[in-house]
Amino acid sequence: NNRTKIKSILDAGETGREVTVMGWVRTFRNNQFIALNDGSTNNNLQVVVPLGLADDDTLKRITTGASVKVTGEVVPSIGKGQSVEVKANSIEILGDSDAEKYPLQPKKHSLEFLREIAHLRFRTNTFGAVFRVRHSLAFAVHQFFNERGFVYLHTPIITASDAEGAGEMFKVTTLPLNSAPTLEDGSIDFKEDFFGKSTNLTVSGQLEGELGAMAFSDIYTFGPTFRAENSNTTRHLAEFWMIEPEMAFYDLEDNMNLAEEFIKYLINYVLQNNADDLAFLDQRLAEEEKSKPQAERNEMGLLEKLRFVVDNNFERITYTEAIDILLQSPAYKKKKFKYEVKWGIDMQSEHERYLVEKHFKKPVIVINYPEGIKAFYMRQNEDSKTVAAMDILAPGIGEIVGGSQREERLDKLISRMEKMHVPVAEMSWYLDTRRFGSVPHAGFGLGFERMVQFVTGMTNIRDVIPFARTPQNCEF
Ligand code: 4AD
Ligand code: MG
Repeated sequence: NNRTKIKSILDAGETGREVTVMGWVRTFRNNQFIALNDGSTNNNLQVVVPLGLADDDTLKRITTGASVKVTGEVVPSIGKGQSVEVKANSIEILGDSDAEKYPLQPKKHSLEFLREIAHLRFRTNTFGAVFRVRHSLAFAVHQFFNERGFVYLHTPIITASDAEGAGEMFKVTTLPLNSAPTLEDGSIDFKEDFFGKSTNLTVSGQLEGELGAMAFSDIYTFGPTFRAENSNTTRHLAEFWMIEPEMAFYDLEDNMNLAEEFIKYLINYVLQNNADDLAFLDQRLAEEEKSKPQAERNEMGLLEKLRFVVDNNFERITYTEAIDILLQSPAYKKKKFKYEVKWGIDMQSEHERYLVEKHFKKPVIVINYPEGIKAFYMRQNEDSKTVAAMDILAPGIGEIVGGSQREERLDKLISRMEKMHVPVAEMSWYLDTRRFGSVPHAGFGLGFERMVQFVTGMTNIRDVIPFARTPQNCEF
């Protein structure tokens, strides 16, 4: 294939050579100027069709959305906005597009409308930028861990356990819905099912990740996870991607240090490698902000925020300190919080956002949560009230990372599992890590889409995953 990507032509700015470009027409002006895009950048390539090169029929078929192949010479451009353009020597229509019917008109469309035509929205500047940044972040994830000697462990999608113990699982079954075999008590007999037992889509790769860490010392997972939580919010998906590193011989502080370094690394990577797309997204967000009332606007622009985050330490506080701050806040005194604030609550997004956006104005790591609101595997602290948990809260997002030091003491782990009704017998494979060469270890999970939201400034999580799955919505 001899095609040249538009980004490389524009970046090189080198004139005098012949290139072949292929892409989709964004606009066609004066029967002469094509704005061509191939997805490599938001900057369209201007293709000049010299008079007489194409017959009338061909010219009519150069419409918004049509795909074309152009061979021509790279020449200096006198038009503003680009230093070079391509003067076509030949042009071929690859696929027609009926301009009247094409849903993407060359004008600004709302994100809501584009969500309805998610199959075409990749062809817009906003989603072009978002998904190139998403790609870069994914690449940087692997690079970060590879540089540090972590093993990428593929954990299963179909599992027989509930890693978070929250019961928010999608069942996997091949049994007929209306005539499934049942047990004497009327419940479904999963012995007759494909795996001979009840199975579900994974909510987290952590437990399997821990098994890997007990051999490789440092592993990470990066895969899709599924939660059947009925949360229709701008931060929840039923199917999302999560990165879960797990490190042997790490305590909570090591864990916090790695998580902070990791987040900063990812941001730095896109600052260095996606400057064009970030500049575009920065501009897009600035426009969006203008439509908000003054009081609700963000103090910082997108690029400013990202640079600030990489240049400053995250705040580190205990859960108890966080609750005290909330209780003493003007927001609490003026009864601005919708949900109750007291020691023991699972902080709501309004509380998390108060801490990061109003109080500290930077990312915050909250540690040592009450044991009653956290998963069974977290290490019990000496105070016998809290566990060695850590959540990282980010401005505009709230919780972006959840992690902990793990309970490595077999007896303590078993008694907590029993207390929380986690099936101990079925999880003997997990407990074996504590029976044979148990070591202190820790890990965390970064919600990939929430990270993409943070970096791109997109307010709705549905706009940072190519195909969103949310309650009542599973198209394609
Ligand atoms: O806090 P969570 O539930 O933690 C775990 O799953 C642990 N097993 C992680 C670990 O220690 N290895 O989820 C981790 C992160 C959250 O902080 C959030 O960023 C993201 O995953 N997340 C979601 N993102 C989108 N939609 C949802 N429904 C999410 N639920 C969690
Ligand atoms: Mg969490």
